[in-house]
Amino acid sequence: MSLKIGDTFLPHGLMLAPMAGVTDRTFRRICRSHGAEYTVSEMVSAKALCYEQKAKRKESAASPSAALAAIFEEDQPMAIQIFGHEPEFMREAAQMLESGEYRGCISNTRPVAIDINMGCPVRKVTSNGEGSALMKDPALAGRIVREVVDAVKLPVTAKIRAGWDASSVNAVEVAKILEDSGASAICVHARTRNQFYSPGVDLGVIEAVKRAVSIPVIGNGDVYTVADAKYMFERTGCDGIMIGRGATGNPWIFGEIIAALEGKEYVSPTNEERIAQALTQLEVMIRERGERAGFAEGKKHMAWYVTGMRGSAAARNEIMCAPSPDEVKGIFERLLSEQTEEV
Ligand SMILES: Cc1cc2nc3c(=O)[nH]c(=O)nc-3n(C[C@H](O)[C@H](O)[C@H](O)COP(=O)(O)O)c2cc1C
Repeated sequence: MSLKIGDTFLPHGLMLAPMAGVTDRTFRRICRSHGAEYTVSEMVSAKALCYEQKAKRKESAASPSAALAAIFEEDQPMAIQIFGHEPEFMREAAQMLESGEYRGCISNTRPVAIDINMGCPVRKVTSNGEGSALMKDPALAGRIVREVVDAVKLPVTAKIRAGWDASSVNAVEVAKILEDSGASAICVHARTRNQFYSPGVDLGVIEAVKRAVSIPVIGNGDVYTVADAKYMFERTGCDGIMIGRGATGNPWIFGEIIAALEGKEYVSPTNEERIAQALTQLEVMIRERGERAGFAEGKKHMAWYVTGMRGSAAARNEIMCAPSPDEVKGIFERLLSEQTEEV
């Protein structure tokens, strides 16, 4: 239940999972402040990052991949995740991210690891042979890891799935190849690609990978509570846990798990504290991205924060339709007053 990746020590092995469109800089920092010991960037296309270097455009023009890969001192320890299927682009992108010498780079520090995405199930990605499609080509997956390992000094990790589909569960085979290719740790999302995110994970796959390799294994999938986390550790013997959707609207989950692992008392946040955290997140998102994009992206987070409160289902719909941050604040105030009445 502790973990080392390169020089980075995670006392409880608790990580925030990468989620494109969700785990942006603001949310990653909030999770860190509540106990997440390690975060990973949203996935960055290796090819797009390379192409952005060559594009004929002004130096000041937006560089979307570079923005996704941005990393600052206060984000550490953080890995940057790349996806792709061509070893040469993966190598080039990893080198750029390690050196920080690339057009559009706004980072003031370097990642502690490069993570390789072998789990994304989205057709747009898999149809190019990328993300979870690499589970169908273990030899290529190994070549990619080897190419990146040979190109950078940073540790290289990979995030895989159980397999492509129920008839081709091959996480153990892939994990062994990746270990032989120089990977420093492997995260196993215990679902096949064809399961996408449907409920239910096969923890036996994580256990089997843990038995098969000697590098750290991180379990992932459906950890929403302390009990889920403890069960994943106990059932699989994994060294760390990555939490994705269980942290949305509930970044406190990391601190709660740490308290449980240390046998310490844990005091859950009040509804007022939940709402205050939500509003701080929205404020920062708006400051960083501008009112329009920050609010559009922030709304779903606001809706997640009210989960579990009385009247949350209706409030979530209202939040998603709200035209302004002030309107969202009003919904929160009304919701809070309704909770107080209950006591
Ligand atoms: C909206 C969304 C975006 C995701 N984006 C990524 C990504 O960029 N890279 C990645 O490796 N996994 C991505 N995932 C998968 C998660 O990291 C994680 O493996 C999955 O959600 C299962 O963990 P959970 O049950 O704790 O959420 C994404 C998942 C979701 C729901």
